[in-house]
Amino acid sequence: APLSRSASYDPSFINKMKNSNRNVVVFYGSQTGTGEEFAGRLAKDCAGYGMKGMVADPEECEMEDLSRLTEIDNGLAIFCMATYGEGDPTDNAQEFYEWLQTGDVELNGVKFAVFGLGNKTYEHFNAMGKYVDKRLEELGAERVFEVGSGDDDGNIEEDFVTWREKFWPAVCEHFGVEATGDQVNVRQYTLTEHDDLPAEKVFRGEIARLRSFDNQRPPYDAKNPYLAAVKVNRELHKGGDRSCMHIEFDISGSKIRYEAGDHVAVYPMNDPDSVKAIGKRLGVDLDKIITLTNVDEEASKKHPFPNPCSYRTALLHYMDITSCPRTHILRELAEYAEDEKDKEFLLKLTSATPEGKSLYNEWIIKSHRTILHILEDLPSIAAPIDHICELLPRLQARYYSISSSPKQDPTSIHITAVLVEYETKTNRTIKGVATNWLALMKPAENGAVHRVPIYVRKSQFRLPFKTALPVIMIGPGTGLAPFRGFLQERHYLKTEGKPVGDTILYFGCRKSAEDYIYEDELAEYMKNQTLTKLHLAFSRDQEKKVYVQHLLNQNKEETWKLLEAGGHLYVCGDARNMARDVHDTLMNIIQECGGLDSSRAADYIKKLQNKGRYSCDVWS
Ligand code: FAD
Ligand code: 2AM
Repeated sequence: APLSRSASYDPSFINKMKNSNRNVVVFYGSQTGTGEEFAGRLAKDCAGYGMKGMVADPEECEMEDLSRLTEIDNGLAIFCMATYGEGDPTDNAQEFYEWLQTGDVELNGVKFAVFGLGNKTYEHFNAMGKYVDKRLEELGAERVFEVGSGDDDGNIEEDFVTWREKFWPAVCEHFGVEATGDQVNVRQYTLTEHDDLPAEKVFRGEIARLRSFDNQRPPYDAKNPYLAAVKVNRELHKGGDRSCMHIEFDISGSKIRYEAGDHVAVYPMNDPDSVKAIGKRLGVDLDKIITLTNVDEEASKKHPFPNPCSYRTALLHYMDITSCPRTHILRELAEYAEDEKDKEFLLKLTSATPEGKSLYNEWIIKSHRTILHILEDLPSIAAPIDHICELLPRLQARYYSISSSPKQDPTSIHITAVLVEYETKTNRTIKGVATNWLALMKPAENGAVHRVPIYVRKSQFRLPFKTALPVIMIGPGTGLAPFRGFLQERHYLKTEGKPVGDTILYFGCRKSAEDYIYEDELAEYMKNQTLTKLHLAFSRDQEKKVYVQHLLNQNKEETWKLLEAGGHLYVCGDARNMARDVHDTLMNIIQECGGLDSSRAADYIKKLQNKGRYSCDVWS
């Protein structure tokens, strides 16, 4: 729920639509802002069809009111719904999802369309979008256009643009309206420049509440992160050219609680040199203090980010300046290109033709061009910085699987993070925002303490409640992170005299002498028998690749026996290849050792998942 609601707060979006003469409402289920951005673009599109749209957060709306949409002429509800984790709704759509499941509301005559956002690397691709689409129809609502699905592992911008291209003609046909033809490039926010604001009125990177970094108050969450001091930051790799950091955050006195298996979110800061370069390229004074205010008084979002603040603060803390700008941003930039050639090029790049899409894919996505790279490569773009601040998406917190257990030390949270750095086709080096910033956060040098804004996000990734049950943990690379927490936990339980079942770990990395992280700790756990078995797959120590799933397959009888004995199986790390391959291997083991055909083996796995006995903590 929003932190503060004004006295006139009215959760009825229907009343709001009526009061402001709108007929289209675009709801979003969004975790990282993409769903919200797509919703905004669809709402903006409406003007091109003589309609008026409004974006709405289901968490802030009385969703029962959906049935009243029929009271509005040409009323239409669009849903941009992201799927999160294992087929789950985003936090802000949780209540809406529960309501849809249990609600027996009638939605006869309500017109709707759904665009789902997902990631094909995950098993439950676009589960939320598909569910909302199906369920609304079951409740009697009328689908205006087929459900769309965006794949974040591919090119979600293209998926969206392609869907939208067919969506609007369908809307026109359905409601008997016509495209008015005008591309509406209207500014959403007005700029105010401040000359003499007192410093204490100016945001400096706080996420929601002004001065929240100076007077910290629990409880800490996404809107109110805790500034944790970095106690330890050391290199885990022993060789090779990559880096993996072990970082310990001090949470003593913060009242933050966590459990092994939870995630910690980190709010990073952008690279100051990139920010300076943007300022220089656009010829602006980065220390200018500004406010951007929504021209739409009905909008629930008054400002695109916390302000008043300086352009420097906005670019360092609030804007995502390193991802690839989407087509609507490029289209707006085209308006500012002083060289006709640059303008034409940008317009071509953003056109919905096959040629335009492939150009966008090549020049932007595959070359990983950021806003700065675009401004550098097309020097005639003279865009005002406040417009760029209005258009860029928000900088997101990064999640890390906590690699410690509060049983060992309730006053610290550990993470295990690989430094992200790679070269692009245009010979530029891209540095991952959070990991490269964290790399600088060394513990107190000459008295200076580095603090990192964090909050804990609860997960479902948990050791079995019955400690005597066996566990199999599969975590190559940084996938080891949560299992280090699990091992600390099991070790503690053992010293407490609790019965602790078999604890089996599969770890894999490239070379034993380079990226075998936490080697000493694992050896110690073997020695004190917290670890029953440690299976190691060093993929590049010999000619032929050895991966964790190869070892799992070698130990299929043992794996099957432990599963039949009520064991729990965990997978953590790379979602794109590893988790899928492990899943397939597991499927084979169950078929072979259990004598089941593939459909019964699939049922067996489903049952394990439903009982929380087969859990994945994976990312791509
Ligand atoms: P960013 O600036 O976000 O850049 C990363 C992006 O760059 C990638 O998403 C990819 O699109 C692109 N990219 C990266 N490498 C290449 C390449 N070679 N070529 C082209 N493009 C590339 N990370 C950990 O290290 N440890 C963990 O325990 C951990 N746990 C996680 C748990 C969850 C639930 C999730 C969702 C993620 C987890 N991550 C973990 C990933 C972490 O959140 C960050 O995504 C990661 O640290 C990179 O962040 P960054 O800001 O440094 O990089
Ligand atoms: P590779 O890079 O030598 O191919 C941690 O990243 C470890 O996971 C590395 O040893 C890496 O091996 C390995 N790995 C790569 N692809 C994998 C897959 N599909 N399944 C399991 N492990 C994989």
